[in-house]
Formats: sequence, structure tokens, C-alpha cells
Amino acid sequence: MKKLKYLFLIAQAIFAGTVSAQLYKPSPGIETKVNALLAKMTLDEKIGQLTLYTTDWGSTGPTIREGYKNDIRSGACGNLFNSHTVGFVRDLQKVAVEETRLKIPLLFGYDVIHGYKTIFPIPLGEAASWDLEAIELSARVAALEASAAGLNWTFAPMVDIGRDPRWGRVMEGAGEDTWLGCRIAEARVRGIQGKKIGSTDAMLACVKHYAAYGAATAGRDYNTVDMSERFFREYYLPPYKAAIEAGAATVMTSFNDYDGVPVSGNKYLLTNILRNEWGFKGFVVTDYTTINEMVLHGVVANEKEAGELALNAGVDMDMQGAVFQRFTKQSVKEGKVMRQQIDEAVRRILRLKFELGLFDDPYKFCDENREKATLLSPANRQAAREVSRKSIVLLKNDKNVLPLQRNQRIALIGPLVDNQSELIGNWNGAGNANDCVSLAAGLKGLNIIQAKGCEFEGSDKSGFEAAIAAARSADVVVVAVGEKAMMSGEAASRTDITLPGVQEELILELCKTGKPVVVVLMNGRPLAIPNIAANATAILETWWLGTEAGNAIADVLLGDYNPAGKLPMTFPRSVGQVPIYYNEKSTGRPFDPNSKWTSKYIDEANAPLYPFGFGLSYTTFSYGTPVAKPSYLPGDEKSGTLANPKYPVKVSVDVTNTGKVAGEEVVQLYVRDLVGSVTRPVKELKGFQKVMLQPGETKNLTFTLNEEAFRFYRRNMTFGTEPGEYDIMIGGNSQDVKTVRVRLEK
Ligand code: GLC
Repeated sequence: MKKLKYLFLIAQAIFAGTVSAQLYKPSPGIETKVNALLAKMTLDEKIGQLTLYTTDWGSTGPTIREGYKNDIRSGACGNLFNSHTVGFVRDLQKVAVEETRLKIPLLFGYDVIHGYKTIFPIPLGEAASWDLEAIELSARVAALEASAAGLNWTFAPMVDIGRDPRWGRVMEGAGEDTWLGCRIAEARVRGIQGKKIGSTDAMLACVKHYAAYGAATAGRDYNTVDMSERFFREYYLPPYKAAIEAGAATVMTSFNDYDGVPVSGNKYLLTNILRNEWGFKGFVVTDYTTINEMVLHGVVANEKEAGELALNAGVDMDMQGAVFQRFTKQSVKEGKVMRQQIDEAVRRILRLKFELGLFDDPYKFCDENREKATLLSPANRQAAREVSRKSIVLLKNDKNVLPLQRNQRIALIGPLVDNQSELIGNWNGAGNANDCVSLAAGLKGLNIIQAKGCEFEGSDKSGFEAAIAAARSADVVVVAVGEKAMMSGEAASRTDITLPGVQEELILELCKTGKPVVVVLMNGRPLAIPNIAANATAILETWWLGTEAGNAIADVLLGDYNPAGKLPMTFPRSVGQVPIYYNEKSTGRPFDPNSKWTSKYIDEANAPLYPFGFGLSYTTFSYGTPVAKPSYLPGDEKSGTLANPKYPVKVSVDVTNTGKVAGEEVVQLYVRDLVGSVTRPVKELKGFQKVMLQPGETKNLTFTLNEEAFRFYRRNMTFGTEPGEYDIMIGGNSQDVKTVRVRLEK
């Protein structure tokens, strides 16, 4: 039954995905209702709709402080976040729709980032699955559970491109690549919003953090972001657009400034690009108190001016800052903010409240029976286990030490062997650690000897001796190490991206026993682990996998699942290489080991420890030479474009499973523009296919590249293609590729 329910979820997710996701456009008839309501509203009531406050939870659950109720009752607050469970939502919604003058229902938002009650892998981990259906399924299950708990809005997906592992929030995103980031953003929006906004099993998505928040200088959270418009539009902007074109109904502004202007006051971003270029019709909410923070950014003298700058730039809703609440009425009186601006912001919010169906039934998300039946259901746990297994990346497997044999004596060592709270990761929603399957629990029933060895942090090595003794008594060592969940995520940047404490020393001591050592990493960012890579026998990157972590890792360790994950972010050899990413530029002096005068370090290699797209399997794969048809693209003189979509480039390649077990391979396709009007990356991901191959089986895969695969921001900043030669590279990671050359003709 469990399997059937899980398959139903998959089918539902796929169906949702096949529903052509498109830019959110208000449904017919909504505008009339919005305008009729707007006409009745006082300025105070309008400003209340532009206000979002958090509730807070007491130690034993929601505390419904009179404060919230008075804010709602007075119309000062039209939206809440951090308030969920049917009981809590119903109580607060009741105040809004029974005790206010116009009975406008509340939005209930929450950070459902990788699961609500059933926690899935952190988003960076899911990205490692390169499985868009699995990623969509994860978002779908999260929306099923969260909407069953009264929520109608989630602050997800986070789509910020992350090229700097010092930045703790890389854990929330999809890694370093723009093209993969766009596909994953689309999948997450489809999963969250389901078939249609207003379904009781779906929520409003909120694409964040617009924009380029992941490019914080030095990887230090909230720090300045400064880059050329070309770099911005080429690498950092596309995932937000992809999410919006997939239908995301809301956008959240980021803390950083862009081109010297804090995003919450940046009209170029919030109006010129978002509204005028992209046609976004939803609403913009700020991140937490970002309007107030524009005073500290130093672009306004006080919060009143900050509110005026934000509203005139295109912000619609103030998260927790109470700036609109305190100053906007005066700003309107002074003519600093036009009433039309206020009205348009209110319209955008009311439209989505109507779309959600909250005026017809404010309690439509408040069904206790559904809540009870949906949260942490066996089918949801099964889905989490499947997605978790797919997220695991096999980085090393010398002597084929993995998969383990069930009759082996296993020394299970490390601070994470029994841990549950770290495994549900950061931003773990309403997840309970005690629902999480630890690694030890996942391996129960096997011949295990356990020893902690050391803590996460600190220099205490007193546990080493017992751990080494356990290792000596076993056939194989499995050591579970990593970061604490709060060492990643928001306000958790690190200058040292090695394993904290003495964990690395413990591993090296265990390696000295001569026993095979399998390292299981549990972390929220790429780690610099060259010594472990050199000495361990095998390494599994498992991120924080959530509620089913222990079962998923056990499935891989014991060979019940053949890992197929690929890194969505480069693993550096050292933090000194950062930022390091695969799609770098050639430079005029590309690295040449035989020449001093080339782009390199004198104390570190240029190459990463593990490249973007890297991941091993329990089997092996070989690639034929790619073949491109046509190798020349007839131009289309009429449209002036280079490659008429009628003439896509079809690139085919044979992939063979050369090993002894079935396995999935993520076949990646990269493109290089050999000569452009501006410098171009040495390669860029433009496609992938995940394929299952039986031992000895060969499949011929074909990729279709239309004109957009070759577009970029040319010298004059127009987005298009240029004639010339392009290398098409195909392989199982971004380094080991085979190439075929094609020419785009005028
Ligand atoms: C936080 C985060 C943002 C989150 C918001 C609400 O500061 O930056 O990602 O959605 O506040 O919790």
C-alpha cells in the first residue's frame, strides 16, 4: 500500500509538472472583486494589507498572544508568518474574518524549505540528485503537508546561485550552475503551487532572495554584492526569471545591495526588470526588516524615507519591519508616496487572496482530519527515502569496499552516528528530530560496534582510543562526520571549510589501522577535505537528508540502492581557491604547468578536489564519441537569427554500462563558444539526461540544442547568438568529457 501511495505521489507530481507552468496571470473576474473591495478600504486598512508580522511559538507550541489578535482586529496586519497547524491558523483567521470591518482573510506564510513535517534532503542535497521529478515530488509533498497544516504561502524556492562555500546559505539553493538552477527552480515552483493556485493541497511559492544574494562579497552573509550587469544577467538573474516564468506568485527581496542600491529600494530590479521586462503580476515581499535596514545601508536617513524608497521602488509587503505601518500614512499626506502606488500594491496582494479562494472559504486550509492523515504519512516517508537516496553522491570507492556485505563486522564511529537533530538540517520547518532515522538506526540488526570518537567541535581526543580499538576489531569502519546544522544556513558563513573540531584527525587515525574506512559526510556546504580524500577508502556525500536519512544511507551502504548523485557545486581543495566553479573563463594566460607566467597559485593546485557534476557509481560507464547533426546550422536570413529553431543541433552519444551491476548515469552536455564578442566560459551546462543502464547495456542518447542553447549577452548587451565554432562536450562530470565541434553560420 505504501508503495502504491508513493507511486501516486510520483504520478501526481509528474502530472503537476506536465501542466504547462506559466507566468502567473490573474484569473478572469478577480479584478472586479479586487477593485470592489479596494473601493471600500480606508488608507489604514490598505496599509494593513501591506504588512506582514511573525507570530512566535512558545516552548510547547503556538502562543496566541493578544498582540497578534489586536493587530489583526485593528486591521494593522493583514498577513502572518510562522503561524501554522490548523488549530493556530483557524483561531487567527477567525479574528480576521469575524472581528474586522471588511473581513479580509489572512495569508499564512512559513519557511517550508525542504519539507514541513516529513523533512527531505536540504535543497543543495536534492540538487545533487539531478532528478527533476524527485525534486518536484519533494516540493509537492512539502506543499501537501504544509497546506494540510493551515499554510497557504511558503518562502521557497530559494534560487540564489551559490559559488562560494563560505556562504552558509548554499545549503538552501541548487548550487553553482545557472542552467541547472533554472530547471530546479521550475521544478520546485511546480511542486509548491501544484496544478493551480487555489488548490487546497498547494501554496503560493515565493522565489527568493531576489537578487544575487549568493554573491555576497567574501561569502560573508548580508555583505555587498557588486558585479557587472553582464555577469548579473548571465549567471545570477536567470533562476529568478525561470521561477517566475514557471508561475511563482510572489518574490522576496534580498538583504544585499546591488549596484549600490539595497534591493528593497532598487527600482531597476523591482520595477524595470521584474515588472516591465518580465511582466511579473504577483507581489513582492521584503525579507525580514530589509526596509528598516536601508538606514544602516546608508541610503536613507530614517525609516520613513526607507518606506518611501521601498514603495516607490516596487515593494508591496513589509516583512516584520512595521515601517509602512508607522510612516506610510504620513508619507501619503506629504505626497512622498502616491495613493495609486499603495492601491496597486494592495491589488497585487488581494488578487492572490482571491486566487487562493480565501474569501469564499477562509478556513479551506483548516481541516484537522486532513492534517492528521497527511503529516508524516508512510507514503510521505517513503517519498523522502527515495529522494534522499537519489541525493547521495559517491565521491570515492577504492577497492570497491562499497557496498558493504551484511555479514561484515562494522565499526560505526563519529559524532553523527546516533544523531537525529542535525540530520534534519537547517530550515527544518515543523520537523521533529525524534522522527528522524539516525544512521545507527538505519543499520540496526547488522554486526555493529559503535564508538563516538569525538564531538563535532573542540580539541578533545579522549575518545580516539576506543574508536581505534573498535576499528581494529571490525572488518570495515564507517565514520559519520560533518557539520552541525547551524554551521550552515543563514548568518552562518565560515572562513574555514574543513571538518570542524578534530574529526579529520580522527579519520586519519582510523585510516592508520589499515582497515577500510568509509567516510559518511553530513554537511550543508562543499568541504575542503583533501587529506580525507587521499586516505579514506570510500567517501559518501550525504548532506543532511532529513527524516529518512539513516534508511537512505543504509540503502546505499548495503547496495540496496546504487548511488547516482552528482555534485551541484564544486568541492575546493582549500578555501584559498574560492570562488571556484567549473564554468570559469579561459583568461589570456590559462594554466600551463610548464610555464610560470600563467594563471595559477604557487601553493595550491588550480583544480578542485571534486568538480561540478562529479559522482561515482557501483558500476562504471563509458562514452562513445558524440556525433552532431547537422554540424552546420543553416542560418535564417529573414529573422537574422543564426540558428532557426527548425534546424536544432542534434547531438548523439553512446553510453555503456561497463560494470557488473545496473546503475544510473547523469549524462551531462556542455557547450563552449570558442570565439565570442566577449570572453566566454570554457564550458556551460546546457542539458543532461539521467539514464538507467543494465550491466553491458549501451544506450544511444540524443540531445536537441535549439538556438537558445547558444545565446549570451553579446558585446552590445543584446541577448542572442553569434556565428562561429562551438564545442559540444558530453560526459559524466564537467571535466571528463568528449567533444564534437559544430559551426553556427550567419
Ligand atoms: C529570513 C530569511 C528568509 C526567510 C525569512 C522569513 O531572514 O532570510 O529566507 O524566508 O527571514 O523567515
